Amino acid sequence: MTTEQMNHPACVDPVALNEWYPIENAYAVTSQSQSSRLLGHPISLRRDDSGQVEVRTGERGLAALERYGFVWTSLGQPDHGVVEIAEAAEPDRRYVACGWITVRTSAPRLVENFLDMAHFPFVHADILGSEQYPQVAAYQSEIRPDVDEVWATNCSFFQPKVTAGHAGSLAQLSYRVSSPFLVMLYRVPPETPDRQDVIALLIQPLTEVLCRAQPLEYLIDTGSSDVALLDFEQKIFLQDRIIVENQRPLRLPLDPRAEIPTRADNASITYRRWLKQKGLRYGVTWDAGPPRSPADAPKGN
Ligand SMILES: [Fe+2]
Repeated sequence: MTTEQMNHPACVDPVALNEWYPIENAYAVTSQSQSSRLLGHPISLRRDDSGQVEVRTGERGLAALERYGFVWTSLGQPDHGVVEIAEAAEPDRRYVACGWITVRTSAPRLVENFLDMAHFPFVHADILGSEQYPQVAAYQSEIRPDVDEVWATNCSFFQPKVTAGHAGSLAQLSYRVSSPFLVMLYRVPPETPDRQDVIALLIQPLTEVLCRAQPLEYLIDTGSSDVALLDFEQKIFLQDRIIVENQRPLRLPLDPRAEIPTRADNASITYRRWLKQKGLRYGVTWDAGPPRSPADAPKGN
């Protein structure tokens, strides 16, 4: 981590502060205190004598709870709970926590990349896409005011390798953004078309332009080994890391003039509009003016 990244200012944006964030796999939290960072604030976490997780920033104790095998906390006062993932309660699901990967970019850039199907043939060639079939078919994206989420539905894409254990077919996908920095993919498994795999991208924003992220999966898959499932997801995410770390600016521009939209960017446009409606300031830029810091300067400068 560079000094510039570590010294990024601590978040004061209430929209970002009043959310829940995954900060560690539950099994990794012991009685030994660990130091970490969330939204630019130093935090520490440990288990007390009764096994409860304690999270602090300085002397201040933070709300903490365990869900989906992770410890979640908030620096603010969320008016809602940790996201509901109904499939997590289904006993026949494979639970795959894919491991933390540090990525030098903002959380909204990670979410946007996760929503983007157009990069499949080029970034995940011969796995999630094929250069012979680069087109993104029309799909719907919308802000759902009743649940305050962004959804992209009826997405389909030809994938040479849809899952760890299944070759070539037209993948049926839906995307859900349940909070500004939490995105999920629902994927119809080829063998069980009446159910959906769930892949959540858990993001811990360490600073405005540095994140830890971990794919968490609840899968319908009886054939693949744990190692095969892990290898598949980690390979894909490491390919994504190279792409997002090279996007500039590191913060996601909310001004539509900043980047030229295409049809494939439908979900991204809806996501940006939703962030703007919320008044989010952390990890985004609001105008297409000059870079605010060296981290946002174009590459090569
Ligand atoms: Fe990707």
